[in-house]
Amino acid sequence: ELTLVARNVTEKGVIGGSGLYKLDNLKVERTVNPVTPWGAPSSPITIASLETPNGKVTLAFLARHGLNHSIPPSRVPARANIAALKHLGVKAIVAFSAVGSLREEVRPGDIVIPDQVIDRTKGIRKSTYFDEVMVGHAMFGEPFDVELRDFIGPLVKEAISSFQDHVNADDLPKLHDKGTLVVMEGPQFSTRAESNMYRQWGGDIINMSAIPESKLAREAELSYALVCTSTDYDAWRVGHAPVTVEEVMKTLHTNAALSKHIAATILGAVHDAVKAGKVGTQAAGAMKYSLMTPH
Ligand code: ADE
Repeated sequence: ELTLVARNVTEKGVIGGSGLYKLDNLKVERTVNPVTPWGAPSSPITIASLETPNGKVTLAFLARHGLNHSIPPSRVPARANIAALKHLGVKAIVAFSAVGSLREEVRPGDIVIPDQVIDRTKGIRKSTYFDEVMVGHAMFGEPFDVELRDFIGPLVKEAISSFQDHVNADDLPKLHDKGTLVVMEGPQFSTRAESNMYRQWGGDIINMSAIPESKLAREAELSYALVCTSTDYDAWRVGHAPVTVEEVMKTLHTNAALSKHIAATILGAVHDAVKAGKVGTQAAGAMKYSLMTPH
């Protein structure tokens, strides 16, 4: 089904990762299936509304791995996903992702808002919009939108402390408001040697999804930040078995509930900040001096 969508329906998009296939605290207005020049997105996009103290806001939600978790990380149609959100009028994206921890202090269940990325994908993912007609080199020294990260940090912290379903109320998940994310190709997990190498490189967490999503968001001049939920200690930890899907799934359930709570708590404020021009000012126009082909 091809649905034509009106622009400017929303200021704000959400990309859900493993375990986050819908946001059940939002009121679904409609579902759209845009087709972009780069194909169809991972899933239908839910246009939903959220009541906030300042009134009703409209959001767009997309499941990165599809609604049945059937799209492996290397095949996520990231160009279509970002283009579809842009076409819908989205200006800022808060994406969610399950990650492995490369540090003792980032415990399974903790939340990390990374500020840096080490790209260990293998070049098989389509990771730019500038590979045919034009040559463009986006700035990527700050891979996540600094304004958006700074804005959501305190809100996420507040959301964690107000989460009712904590397994252990005396031992709340911690928020790590920065960290270096290693993005690997997968789908196999890392070897112990690779896991240790990433630690020596300064990696704090690891996933298979933030690249090329964050690069494409920059090229599309959208502000983009990632909220990571730690599910495991990857493979580096001496005396512990390397990570398995079973272990990831165990933490994923609680993590997904917390991610949904975080989304519901922060999205209204993010929407208002984008609308008021407090967030997203760096992303808009990010490509201004990045094109090399005369245009
Ligand atoms: N996603 C969740 N845990 C992971 C790990 N240990 N490595 C890569 N991606 C992950």
